[in-house]
Amino acid sequence: MKILVTGGAGFIGSHTVVELQNSGHEPVVLDNLYNASSKVIGRIEAITGKHVPFYKADIRDREALAEIFEKEKPEAVIHFAGLKAVGESVRKPWEYYENNIGGTLTLVDEMRKHGCKNIIFSSSATVYGDPAFVPITEECPKGQCTNPYGWTKSMLEQILSDIQKADPEWNVVLLRYFNPIGAHKSGTIGENPNGIPNNLMPYITQVAVGKLEKLHVFGNDYDTPDGTGVRDYIHVVDLAKGHVCALKKVAPGSGLSVYNLGTGTGYSVLDIVKNFEAATGKNIPYVIDPRRPGDIATCYSSAEKAKEELGWEAQYGIKEMCEDAWRWQSTNPNGYGD
Ligand code: NAD
Ligand code: WQD
Repeated sequence: MKILVTGGAGFIGSHTVVELQNSGHEPVVLDNLYNASSKVIGRIEAITGKHVPFYKADIRDREALAEIFEKEKPEAVIHFAGLKAVGESVRKPWEYYENNIGGTLTLVDEMRKHGCKNIIFSSSATVYGDPAFVPITEECPKGQCTNPYGWTKSMLEQILSDIQKADPEWNVVLLRYFNPIGAHKSGTIGENPNGIPNNLMPYITQVAVGKLEKLHVFGNDYDTPDGTGVRDYIHVVDLAKGHVCALKKVAPGSGLSVYNLGTGTGYSVLDIVKNFEAATGKNIPYVIDPRRPGDIATCYSSAEKAKEELGWEAQYGIKEMCEDAWRWQSTNPNGYGD
């Protein structure tokens, strides 16, 4: 299937393009390179041995979208493009709403004008807020987000659901990712955060490579086994494969589908530190700091629905997640270096 992948040069997008090509699909990448390197496309091509058509374009640019749809005629869109830094979204809410919501509205409008009514959307476990229960099933009520980034995901889920309801020709898949980490086995593509990482694993790998002095653990007084926050970390290659499986839910008549993409297992911050040290032989010094505002104690998925309906489940464990994150970081200490 020919698929337009918005944000396809980013962390999750690049890994998904690899898995799409490996399973015989024809991804076409659109990315404005706001948070990605132009080198990614060549790296993907080196992994798969296949050409990746690439458009440097913005999802808010109607004319560029129209041209791409007319030329490429994709059957479906996998929509990763968006801003994703939680703290930045608190400081720049307008920019987040404008890019994520405004951009998606423009994208969806151009899609329907060009007769493409199949979309897989990158949502997030953040839509559950402080979850009503764990493991979190898709039936768990959505909650109060603690930042504008989270609200863009929650609102876009509502917008896409309403659009599908009004026009049943649409097939909409909402994928709620838990915490993607790791990198492709080749060590040639991976996560490339700007500045000091906000997320745990890139922070740890930068401590391991000597770019940062020590990890700051945000709170050890949560109601969890060791007091530190518990999350459902998932290997980015497993997450990428989840998108390939989710394509079966853009078949005609599928309507609206919602899936968690997680492993179903929770690890604490200190579990991650220990597993990283064991998998890599690197020592990760850390200090305990106060809780980070907006953080919750525990968040992990029930991965049953995706297993039953998509035939997808995560294959990689925490050891591979740590090894692969480290291979990427240690062989590319400055990311893509541009
Ligand atoms: P990323 O920043 O690496 O990828 C997003 C890509 O979108 C970047 O390459 C960026 O340049 C591009 N982009 C941003 N705005 C654009 C625009 N207006 N037009 C065109 N391209 C644009 O992030 P990621 O971690 O790969 O996340 C991909 C998607 O998954 C995002 O929507 C994110 O919110 C969502 N998500 C990520 C996580 C996570 O922890 N990484 C968790 C849940 C959901
Ligand atoms: C994980 C755990 C921290 C950094 C965020 C977004 C969410 C989603 C994924 C996009 C927590 C602790 C972290 C550090 C630490 N993104 N931590 N020291 O907060 O679960 O989710 O990314 O949709 O929306 O909120 O991930 O990696 O930031 O934190 O102690 O330097 O690690 O407190 O318990 P989080 P994270």
